[in-house]
Amino acid sequence: MSSPVALEDYEARAQALLPPQVWDFIAGGSGSEAAVRGNRQALDAVAVYPRVLGGGLTDTRTTLLGTPMALPFAVAPMAYQRLLHPDGELAMAEAAGQAGVPMMLSALSSCSVAEVAGTGVALWFQLYWLAERRRLEQLIEHAEDAGCAALAVTLDVPVLGRRRRDVRNEFALPVDVVAANLADGAASRAHLARPGESALAAHTSSLFGSSLSWADLEWLRGRTSLPLALKGILDPRDARRAVDLGADAVVVSNHGGRQLDAAPASITALPGVVAEVGQQCQVLLDSGIRSGTDVLRALALGASGVLVGRPLLWALAVDGAAGAAHALSLLGTEVCESLILAGCPDLAAARELRTTQGSCR
Ligand SMILES: Cc1cc2nc3c(=O)[nH]c(=O)nc-3n(C[C@H](O)[C@H](O)[C@H](O)COP(=O)(O)O)c2cc1C
Repeated sequence: MSSPVALEDYEARAQALLPPQVWDFIAGGSGSEAAVRGNRQALDAVAVYPRVLGGGLTDTRTTLLGTPMALPFAVAPMAYQRLLHPDGELAMAEAAGQAGVPMMLSALSSCSVAEVAGTGVALWFQLYWLAERRRLEQLIEHAEDAGCAALAVTLDVPVLGRRRRDVRNEFALPVDVVAANLADGAASRAHLARPGESALAAHTSSLFGSSLSWADLEWLRGRTSLPLALKGILDPRDARRAVDLGADAVVVSNHGGRQLDAAPASITALPGVVAEVGQQCQVLLDSGIRSGTDVLRALALGASGVLVGRPLLWALAVDGAAGAAHALSLLGTEVCESLILAGCPDLAAARELRTTQGSCR
């Protein structure tokens, strides 16, 4: 097989390598997977009007959540990366460091935040709201002590979306993959396969507080001086509340179609959130980003930057740190090409581009 020339080229390669139930865990969405398909369809339906005679590309750098970065994308938080490659999050961090972009580390990472920080990558830490306040505080302390540059709280998981593939596979973690930041080890609920259920869903229910409130987030805002992002926002009214409580960024996300199956595509929700809060905080987007063209679409609709999810897992599975580094480098090249083709000297110019969104271009 020739070497990958697009992020999507990693998909079939990863599927061929991975055990089917691990493939299903990363590829799957919730319910009928309409939201997964919707992300792709909605991105494809965004047309961007290129400008001409832009004078050439001069700068792709930006600063998100206080972190300077070479390109307007970062690694999305994704749990249990050692399922895909023995080096897991350490390999992903090495790749992100090489690309000069930050990595958002999942609370459910299979390497500890201290280990991953040791790679020197610019690290943001993603929190799930643990039901036990004491454990949540420990998690925040570990992230702060490790030198994380920002915190993000994921808001769209009051319960894990019903991922039918994982339920059918009765998916459970192998003993050698653990939630390294939670110290509940290989005997956690996530390792206990039971008929007719996903052990990950059962683990989530036992661990997360389903009653996370705006007051809790105000407590967190007072508790940390790190830049704070709120991830999983689609409705502009929630974005407004996020800004009112002092969030530095919102991440417009439908969790890659893994939570509410009826949720709109993130790219469809983006303009409403940008109109509501784009002047007051940074607006990031994830879900379905597969190419530099997709990054341009998000920028043109007002995003400050994007998070990249599954494609980096595919590349990690195929070739560890080298694979993820290659995928990030490809994406960087594509972003530059898209900016040049759209006549944009920099990211600010991309945000001025005209767009149409809809089935008919
Ligand atoms: C295997 C997998 C694990 C994920 N784990 C987390 C997680 O621990 N925390 C979180 O906030 N989002 C998690 N997500 C969602 C991603 O952060 C991101 O929102 C999503 O993958 C973007 O969609 P895309 O993969 O289609 O680009 C996960 C996604 C996948 C595919």
